[in-house]
Amino acid sequence: MEETAQQALFPWSAQLNVGVEEIDAQHQELVNLLNALHASISAHQPLDRTRAALNDLADYTRTHFVVEESLMRVFGYPGFGHHKHIHEALMLQIKQLQQTLDAEHTEISPDQLDFLKVWLIQHISEADKRFGEYLVKVGTAQEWSAHVRETMERRTWWWKFW
Ligand SMILES: [Fe+2]
Repeated sequence: MEETAQQALFPWSAQLNVGVEEIDAQHQELVNLLNALHASISAHQPLDRTRAALNDLADYTRTHFVVEESLMRVFGYPGFGHHKHIHEALMLQIKQLQQTLDAEHTEISPDQLDFLKVWLIQHISEADKRFGEYLVKVGTAQEWSAHVRETMERRTWWWKFW
């Protein structure tokens, strides 16, 4: 069918939400950029156009990882080291992919594209969701502790007059 070539590599799904608005918005953008790369390949765009689409994806991925890792540090995420390691491993693979494409003047293969797609889905569904749950929990806990502190302060005030 004609439409198959025009279909997105994969559509965004609400199932990929990790529950943190900013991270979810960035993940959607990653999916958009990956779909744009796929569209460029499907439309048989010149190699430099496809390469530019891959560079856009790589740049945004790097920025997104920095945001995630900063949040992990700020909120004392226990899985920070492991998660950062996973990010670094992907960035290395993308760099190697860019170098291979440059050296061989070749198009990204369906397998390479599929690798990026599967990686993104798995990473969001597993590692990022674990972090999202933690962030939501910690955020709630902070609200809770502020509420308790406020209540305790009032109680102290009340105790003075008891
Ligand atoms: Fe991540």
